[in-house]
Amino acid sequence: MKIGVFDSGLGGLLVFKGLIKKLPRYDFVYLGDLKRLPYGNRRDETIYEFAKEATDYLFKKEDCQIIIFACNTASARALRRIQQEYLPKNFEDRRVLGVIIPTAEEAVQETKSEKRKTKNIKNDKKIGVLATMATVNSGTYKREILKLDPGAKVFEKSAPSLVTLIENGETKFIEPILREYLKPLLLKKIDTLILGCTHYPIIKNIVSKIVGKKTKIISQDEIIPQKLIDYLKGHPEIENKLKKKGVRKILVTELTDEFQKTAKRWLGKDVDPKVINLQQ
Ligand code: DGL
Repeated sequence: MKIGVFDSGLGGLLVFKGLIKKLPRYDFVYLGDLKRLPYGNRRDETIYEFAKEATDYLFKKEDCQIIIFACNTASARALRRIQQEYLPKNFEDRRVLGVIIPTAEEAVQETKSEKRKTKNIKNDKKIGVLATMATVNSGTYKREILKLDPGAKVFEKSAPSLVTLIENGETKFIEPILREYLKPLLLKKIDTLILGCTHYPIIKNIVSKIVGKKTKIISQDEIIPQKLIDYLKGHPEIENKLKKKGVRKILVTELTDEFQKTAKRWLGKDVDPKVINLQQ
């Protein structure tokens, strides 16, 4: 059985790239719902329906044992319902994991890091979160961080137009807009910044230029692969079912030129995305 990676668009490919690099023997399938992107400005019920259709497809048609919602919006708005209602009724022995809890864990751990103390980097446990509107309005990051450390201070900011600019490859417009989005977080003097959206690791360098070296950036492409390794170590009943033939498959609900170009650049020229229909 395979490991599924689901995102609304191309951003999740960065997490996918990290996963196949760290877990090269496993069989993976990526599903990007490009036709219905962006999810980040949509209502709960819609995000849940889309995420459920993707989950259904990956379990039924692709024989996935486990699915990672690389999409923060789906992790914030649909994951809990999928885990509590959909899985017990339909696929009791399979798993769907999100990216928000592992990211919150990493950020909290970072604010406690000894390395940071010895380097004398300012650390007031002020964690900023940049994400889509749906993720920010859900309050999921704040809730999960405060569960782990009630002493942390969390400041969230939504960045509604970033995904579309990144998805269309319009990089030159990004910096001025990003400066505006980050301004309120910088005014709060954050010391740690979570990039709480699949697409933001793509613009990590621009973010870093704006927030400066003393703010630690938490980027999911760097942390999720290790978190999955840890999860599989702790769950041999899942790990044992996974095939290890190094198969990679890329599925999209609409194939854009930007996706094709980006997928080839990140994953190699043999990548051959297939278009599928989720509403069957
Ligand atoms: N994948 C979404 C996320 O990580 C961003 C793109 C979208 O809005 O659909 O929140």
